Amino acid sequence: MLANNLNKIKCLEDFDVYAKEILPRALWEFASVGVENNLSRDNNRKAFDNIWLSPRILENVSNRSIKKKLFNKIYSAPFGISPMGACALCGYEADLQFAKVSKAKNIPYIISGSALVPMEKIVNINSDVWFQAYVDANRGSIGALSDRVFSSGIQTLVVTVDVPVPGNRRATLRNGFEYPMRPNGRLIFDAISHPKWFFKTFLRTILSSGMPHVENYGPNRGIPIVSFSAPERLHIRDGLDWDDLKWLRDRWSGRLIIKGVLSVEDVKVATKVGLDGVILSNHGGRQLDTAISPLDVVEASAREKGKMMILFDSGIRRGTDVVKALALGADFVFAGRPFLFAVAAGGYSGVSHAIDLLASEIDRTIALLGCSDLYNLRTRIV
Ligand SMILES: Cc1cc2nc3c(=O)[nH]c(=O)nc-3n(C[C@H](O)[C@H](O)[C@H](O)COP(=O)(O)O)c2cc1C
Repeated sequence: MLANNLNKIKCLEDFDVYAKEILPRALWEFASVGVENNLSRDNNRKAFDNIWLSPRILENVSNRSIKKKLFNKIYSAPFGISPMGACALCGYEADLQFAKVSKAKNIPYIISGSALVPMEKIVNINSDVWFQAYVDANRGSIGALSDRVFSSGIQTLVVTVDVPVPGNRRATLRNGFEYPMRPNGRLIFDAISHPKWFFKTFLRTILSSGMPHVENYGPNRGIPIVSFSAPERLHIRDGLDWDDLKWLRDRWSGRLIIKGVLSVEDVKVATKVGLDGVILSNHGGRQLDTAISPLDVVEASAREKGKMMILFDSGIRRGTDVVKALALGADFVFAGRPFLFAVAAGGYSGVSHAIDLLASEIDRTIALLGCSDLYNLRTRIV
């Protein structure tokens, strides 16, 4: 692992090389690919590259700050960690590492509905974590899950809404990477031929807590991640609609956010439903290939947001990306894969280093733009 050698990592993308080497191929592909031809995943980066910054000079920026208020809390940086299912397969107890580091660094972290560590255990470490739910149109099961989230003490519920059916992922098709995975010769060879991962993540997990299960999918523990016989999880949520969201809004007294919005029309509906925020996201290019980058709708969404917060993810890799999204009107951003690869390569220290790198890039960017904070950036983009 990289933990003692983090000075080699100078930007978030440097983690990719180490994660690719450490992780079994099926796992690396599960985490890194998008869907179909990866066009949306790759365009998420191009969208940032097409926006140019316009610095001002001779501004006194010696007292600058990258702190950002979101809802009722002031965070130390304007970004958080996106929800990622099965991340504990990539790094040992990754959800717990994310919870610990995000608490230490004072940034938000969203637990995935497909996480392999129970939400209650994660909240014990960091009471500020948010929870992302995958729900279908069955109100009994939505209610039971939201009751569990509420009882655990979590106050912010994120419902992912860009998943009526699963995305068409090559890694799943070619490698048999599905929940539950059915062990076969290829997967087993892949696993044992990556000994750093096999011993330090997989075997260590099995020895400390047994076979990982999908823990937070409903009110009770779900299926094991590897099994010959457990039923396949179907991921069909095509009946969920705005009426279900309205129903949940009436029932859930905490903050309610939806994730996976790409249309200004949907932002308008979300304000009417009384949501607290939307996450503009194309799921990191993992659902509909050729879906637009959320960057294309930030500005118009911010105009229609009413009292909601406009959150953003998909493609954030550099401090300049964060500043561009905020300048266009996002209130806060999140990133997924960079933190996943950081935890795979370096555990707690890797994630901590990743946060420091992104924060320092944001600080450098606003200084070079002649800005002292993150609240008046609009004049710095063309
Ligand atoms: C391995 C992996 C697992 C993910 N699992 C979930 C999930 O369980 N729930 C969810 O809403 N989004 C999930 N996402 C999407 C992320 O929350 C986020 O939208 C995306 O990673 C952002 O793009 P980025 O990776 O380019 O930063 C996952 C992404 C990855 C890479």
